[in-house]
Amino acid sequence: MTMHLAFDVYGTLVDPQGMTDHLKADCGEQAAAVSRLWREKQLEFSFRRGLMRLYADFGVCTREALRHAMALQGLTLSAPREDELMQAYLSLPAFPDAGPVLAELGEVYPCFAFSNGSYPALEKVLGHNGLRSCLTGLVSVDDIKSFKPDPAVYAYARRATGAYDQPLCLVSSNAWDVIGARSAGLSAIWVQRDTAVPFEDWGLAPSAVIHSLHGLRDALDDLA
Ligand code: LAC
Repeated sequence: MTMHLAFDVYGTLVDPQGMTDHLKADCGEQAAAVSRLWREKQLEFSFRRGLMRLYADFGVCTREALRHAMALQGLTLSAPREDELMQAYLSLPAFPDAGPVLAELGEVYPCFAFSNGSYPALEKVLGHNGLRSCLTGLVSVDDIKSFKPDPAVYAYARRATGAYDQPLCLVSSNAWDVIGARSAGLSAIWVQRDTAVPFEDWGLAPSAVIHSLHGLRDALDDLA
């Protein structure tokens, strides 16, 4: 049996809070708070679109969330500035552990990116950080026009990674994603990047908890 790994992208391999520096020009000292709200609204909009069966590219959720986060500051971005920030989102920085760990584990396990992001966005953000070449492939929800944590998306990941009769393990820093994967019958390792943020207790515990991707190899050995 070969364990297949499905890595969440935003928050796990690349850091959405990398937008804070870009936002300083627009929101000054509110930039970090606006960046956090932008991310929260992006996720909320994707969850709601999934429930409403009103799918749109994740980039649409990102753009609409940016507008809303700005509106709450009483700001309206010009169209060119909005495009500039959306462009910057395609170059979010990787977490420092992502490159070395993917390079090492990619030699041992089939490793996939598995994300709510679209293929063009994933190619750009992973390519920009040199992560794309460490991966066996990409799996985007865009193939089935729904969003994590729809169970159909996790089931689709089995088909798209070829892990029908092989174990498939999600690796994600997003607790909602880990709970979604566990609920759909996958193993899921939670990357608790911020130790001040506890797991969300739904009675669906992660298969393992690590604090950076550097702990992944040992966690996988323990799961085997
Ligand atoms: C992902 C985001 C939503 O699926 O974390 O990559």
